[in-house]
Amino acid sequence: MVEMAAEAQYSVEEIGCPAGDERKYAQQDYTGKPRIEIDEDGVWHLHGYDESRQVLRSDLVKQAGFVAEKVMGESTKGLMKNLPILFLEKDEHHRMRRETNRFFTPTAADTKYREFMDSYADALIDKLKKQGSADLSDLTMEMALKVASQIVGLTSSLIPGMNARLNGLLETANDLAAESPNLAKLIISQRYMIAFMYLDVKPAIRKRRKNPQNDVISYLVSRDYSDLEILTEGVVYGVAGMVTTREFICVALWHLLEKPHLRQRMLVGSQEERYAILHEILRLEPIVGHLLRRTTGEIEIESEGEKVTIPAGTLVDMNIFASNIDPGMAGENGTSVCPLRPLHSALGKVPEPVLSFGDGYHRCPGSFVAIQESDIFLRKLLAIDTLRLERKPDIVYNDIVKGYELRNFVIKV
Ligand code: HEM
Repeated sequence: MVEMAAEAQYSVEEIGCPAGDERKYAQQDYTGKPRIEIDEDGVWHLHGYDESRQVLRSDLVKQAGFVAEKVMGESTKGLMKNLPILFLEKDEHHRMRRETNRFFTPTAADTKYREFMDSYADALIDKLKKQGSADLSDLTMEMALKVASQIVGLTSSLIPGMNARLNGLLETANDLAAESPNLAKLIISQRYMIAFMYLDVKPAIRKRRKNPQNDVISYLVSRDYSDLEILTEGVVYGVAGMVTTREFICVALWHLLEKPHLRQRMLVGSQEERYAILHEILRLEPIVGHLLRRTTGEIEIESEGEKVTIPAGTLVDMNIFASNIDPGMAGENGTSVCPLRPLHSALGKVPEPVLSFGDGYHRCPGSFVAIQESDIFLRKLLAIDTLRLERKPDIVYNDIVKGYELRNFVIKV
């Protein structure tokens, strides 16, 4: 439980968690939904926290989200010896996590990345002040891209514009995830991919072959990854690290602008308190709304005291929108923002963002980086007295991440 600073303006004990639904992206009211639902295609949909967590922590599941099963078919295996981190399993995955962990620890986030996060956020705020208004989703993309590209090592581009190239690539990739992608989009996507490869990825590899740095690409070069494998890892970090953080900062600012008491705590509260606020917003508004796994053997989980067996080969859809507001875990008013809410589970301590960073082997390594980066940028934005929301964003669905995107989010100073 987080201790509030002495000047805290509210306490859950005194006022409880507000009732009502404060979600910006309320997919559904899951009240009354069964904790486990099996559809006509045999897909298991899990809506309860305990059930989702048990599957995510099982040894007998493999990644089936982020179009893994579509992308990682036989043709890919012929082209790539090394799969990206998100699709690796077992020993190879453990090795990759162990050996890249040094880029993501809270200490690394604090000592290696704080300074440039701070100065880049200042530059973006200056730009906003000069312009008078901006689309927040552009600013947050710039911030998230800058941070992730430093960690990955995408810092040797031949010409400026990596933001547009990667953005274009990720946007068309979303269309390609559709069942029958259209040809024009396929061609455009190839164009972005080639530009990203030759202008950003290859120059980074060349430089690091001569002069290794302390970043992910240098590590992959040391393990003899091919250029194509490094490109693929770059795209994975683009989806996993940039798209997610970009959306989170946007949704967090939206909530904070509408809740003056939380805005004020973000400005004067301790780091622990601020992180608790951010984690609570992330619990309520998960960016990755569904995590998918395929069982590799029969697995047994417990649901409300009963044993349930999931057959081998089953596609399991962990509904994070629903699991994160499970009343048994988050309490009756689970759809409001309440940073000090008690979280309960028979399985043990529940992390504050609940399942928004995933759980088990594939749990997000970038969680500390993401929260620190969001905290820094949001505080600088919120410190502008005149900051206001000029246009509420449009909300669209991203089929790769299985979550929402906020666009045309105009803020004014
Ligand atoms: C608010 C921001 C973020 C959110 C909500 C988020 C969410 C997630 C989630 C839910 C997963 C688990 C996927 C699964 O289990 O199938 C994940 C994995 C991952 N994330 Fe994040 N992420 C964020 C920021 C970042 C950042 C900043 C980075 C790196 C710079 C990053 C890098 C990764 C990587 C590499 C994985 C794959 C890990 C693995 O498969 O072992 N993420 N993220």
